[in-house]
Amino acid sequence: MRDQDPSAAASPDLARMRVDYGDPLSAPAVEPDLDETWVAGGWEPLLRNWIEQATMLGVAEPNAMVLATVSLAGPVPRPVARTVLCKGLSPEGVTFYTNYDSAKGGQLAADPYAAATFVWPALARQVHVRGVTERVPAEVTAAYWQARPRESRLGAWASAQSKPVASRAELDRTLAETTARFADVDDIPVPPFWGGYLLRPDEVEFWQGRRGRLHNRIVVRIDGEHTRVERLQP
Ligand SMILES: Cc1cc2nc3c(=O)[nH]c(=O)nc-3n(C[C@H](O)[C@H](O)[C@H](O)COP(=O)(O)O)c2cc1C
Repeated sequence: MRDQDPSAAASPDLARMRVDYGDPLSAPAVEPDLDETWVAGGWEPLLRNWIEQATMLGVAEPNAMVLATVSLAGPVPRPVARTVLCKGLSPEGVTFYTNYDSAKGGQLAADPYAAATFVWPALARQVHVRGVTERVPAEVTAAYWQARPRESRLGAWASAQSKPVASRAELDRTLAETTARFADVDDIPVPPFWGGYLLRPDEVEFWQGRRGRLHNRIVVRIDGEHTRVERLQP
């Protein structure tokens, strides 16, 4: 198979790949001198602003974040990470939607702590959001569900996310059955196994790349009503 051609190992030359962050030519709209004052109004306005800037600069899926959970299934806890889309942002936290019976759903039921990382390499920026998750109220899920196209709703019903499936054909068959099942239903309801999680941060770190690898790292630590801002070494 093409992907298994051993000659492909030499290219690309990963060790030589290098970007000098903070280069005004690569991201002219981005101000690299992140400091403590940027989070004076809290972490949420700055995260919102960075997502907006990534959007304006044409970054694909600027609300994508890598969500890490903890699996307690084996003899020792192990991290598990995958990408999800941030579909809500407020001073309370970040919200994403998924299948509650998926692998991540099972992991969050056993250990609600999670970490989400946004990364926008074109802006030399990264944000980590860490804390405890909780399911959002059913009305919040219902409001978001209204915005989902019919095809996405059918997909949510048809997929037992994270479970094995014998073939693509079987998946297509399940989708065809689901489509037939809801053929006469205008407003396809929210599946009982599907909904949102709110990740309430106790820590949010903003990272802005600078030349020479002396990057800016500003972390907001949240403990109830108290917040503390610290700069971390790169
Ligand atoms: C850009 C991107 C966005 C994604 N967004 C979501 C999402 O919002 N919700 C979701 O359940 N899965 C999303 N996925 C798929 C997940 O990465 C993952 O494959 C799926 O949720 C199953 O994860 P799990 O088996 O660890 O539970 C996305 C994948 C990519 C690449």
